[in-house]
Amino acid sequence: MSEPVQPSVLVIVPTYNEAPNIVAVTARLREAVPYADVLIADDNSPDGTGDLADSLAASDSQVHVMHRAGKAGLGAAYLAGFAWGLDRGYDVLVEMDADGSHRPEDLPRLLAALKDNGGTADLVLGSRWVPGGAVVNWPATRKLISRGGTLYAKLALGIPIRDATGGFRAFRADTLRGLDMQDVASQGYCFQIDLAWRAVQRGFTVVEVPITFVEREHGVSKMSRGIVTEALWRVTTWGVAHRVARLRRGNRATPTPPARV
Ligand code: GDD
Ligand code: MN
Repeated sequence: MSEPVQPSVLVIVPTYNEAPNIVAVTARLREAVPYADVLIADDNSPDGTGDLADSLAASDSQVHVMHRAGKAGLGAAYLAGFAWGLDRGYDVLVEMDADGSHRPEDLPRLLAALKDNGGTADLVLGSRWVPGGAVVNWPATRKLISRGGTLYAKLALGIPIRDATGGFRAFRADTLRGLDMQDVASQGYCFQIDLAWRAVQRGFTVVEVPITFVEREHGVSKMSRGIVTEALWRVTTWGVAHRVARLRRGNRATPTPPARV
């Protein structure tokens, strides 16, 4: 019997001002999953992250760098990174933050849940809010925003996901190809809700695997009021559109019952 073929994996790491973190996190990632390639998608960080990424790539053929013109949001960086990876035929594409919050050592567990590795998932979400998941060093306000955001997405969209905004994920290439990403407009962190919602709607199997999210020690979060506002209005719009579509379908499917006398 032949051994199953190991899927090729690309880990996309978006960066904006991650100079204090990018070298260490890349080293941890290369050690945790040596067969995975890495693509650092840098938005022309003023702190020189792009130069550090170039020097990593110069000494390691499995590290690649995408230099983008300027800060255009996490969503745009991932869309460009996914297109790069799909073009090159990777079987699995991973999203991971650069600041150490997503522990590279947790990645093998995420990958193991994929169909490609004998699991059941088309999309694996690293989840902070399932049993076994945790957040270390987040203030109460940030926990509230994250849990509130996920709860709101659940209520508005009806998605059965406990951590819809998390950013540590593994997609099968076929899953990404099935998400119609050409019309993704989400720029900030609601990109994560957008993709999870698309996957659920299209019938892909989404599995949540517990992770411990460790708040960064260096640099600053790019979370902003604008990111929260974008998520709120987009999720609300999708939720309303979804309900209207369901009502329309329902009206067509069920003939008006005969009047009772
Ligand atoms: N290229 C690029 N462009 N990268 C960006 C941009 C951007 O405009 N904005 C943020 N990033 C990168 C950061 O450099 C980091 O590697 C990653 O995206 C996450 O950004 P953080 O600023 O560290 O996010 P966070 O810790 O506040 O938020 C985390 O929680 C969110 C809510 O659960 C992340 O895991 C998010 O993915 C998640 O949505
Ligand atoms: Mn972070």
